[in-house]
Amino acid sequence: MVATKQSLTSEQKSELDRILKEYDYKKSNLIAVLQKVQELYRYLPEEALTYVSVKMNLSPASVFGVATFYSQFSLNPKGKFEIKVCDGTACHVRGSMPVYNAIKKKVGLTGDKITTDCLRFSVETVSCLGACGLAPVVMINDKVYPKMTSDAMTIVLDELMKEDV
Ligand code: FES
Repeated sequence: MVATKQSLTSEQKSELDRILKEYDYKKSNLIAVLQKVQELYRYLPEEALTYVSVKMNLSPASVFGVATFYSQFSLNPKGKFEIKVCDGTACHVRGSMPVYNAIKKKVGLTGDKITTDCLRFSVETVSCLGACGLAPVVMINDKVYPKMTSDAMTIVLDELMKEDV
């Protein structure tokens, strides 16, 4: 369930309390707590960050600082399928950008927008996925797709479009 811009529901607070308790409300566990919160919502809602700061006795600025410092965290909603197209050197020279453009076109993203309105897909480039020998590489959630082409990616996306969001 994704938090809204309104205050958190009691159910959402209970979910956050469960996470905070799991990590003993310890300040040194802030990153782990934020990772769990992001797993829960697929991003870090502002209201959840504020709640965490109060419960962990941290300033909102310090919690937001951590949330914005690490690229693994997002303050904006992400799609169910997070597509990362590697555009490191090895992938770039083997055609990652045409694959990236084909993915964006297929899912209906234009310009700088990275997440579809239906929250099915987020599409971003990354600098290296550590599998340069398999270039060009695309990662969707935790699954690696090696030696991708635009046509092969279209087939993958057709399957993902059949799944519930
Ligand atoms: S450059 Fe793409 S995996 Fe390394």
